[in-house]
Amino acid sequence: MTKTVYILNGPNLNLLGQREPEIYGAETLDDVAVACADTAKTAGLTCRFLQSNWEGQLIDWIHEARDAAAGIIINPAALTHTSVAILDALNSFDGPVIEVHISQVHKREAFRHHSYVSQRADAVMAGFGTHGYLLALRHMQHLLA
Ligand code: DQA
Repeated sequence: MTKTVYILNGPNLNLLGQREPEIYGAETLDDVAVACADTAKTAGLTCRFLQSNWEGQLIDWIHEARDAAAGIIINPAALTHTSVAILDALNSFDGPVIEVHISQVHKREAFRHHSYVSQRADAVMAGFGTHGYLLALRHMQHLLA
């Protein structure tokens, strides 16, 4: 049986491709989901790719992942910088966690430099564009081998 990786996306990422394309690029979140499914297949993994604008929904998915997933890749978007609740939820998960940001957050406003999620993440990707999701999946394959 293949191992499942949850790929979770936070607020406003449903607008990828339309929202600030000069920062986040022209690809849509559906494009990213398709590329992730492809890379996961090559890596011998199954991925469940999800997005919500609601903090509680993301927390429920993290709880679900406790039984259903071997690893979590998460782009918490703006909740990265504010959510102790997402950090607490991730701390209840035993497998590897990789934090992804499309943009290079450390080159941007100071409020984006702090991440609550980084206190739990085993690896952090920032500034690789949407390719960061695929690199994270490859690293997840290595962590779960
Ligand atoms: C983001 C960076 C966050 O600061 C921002 O709020 C986002 C997206 C990124 O992928 O670069 O919504 O997580």
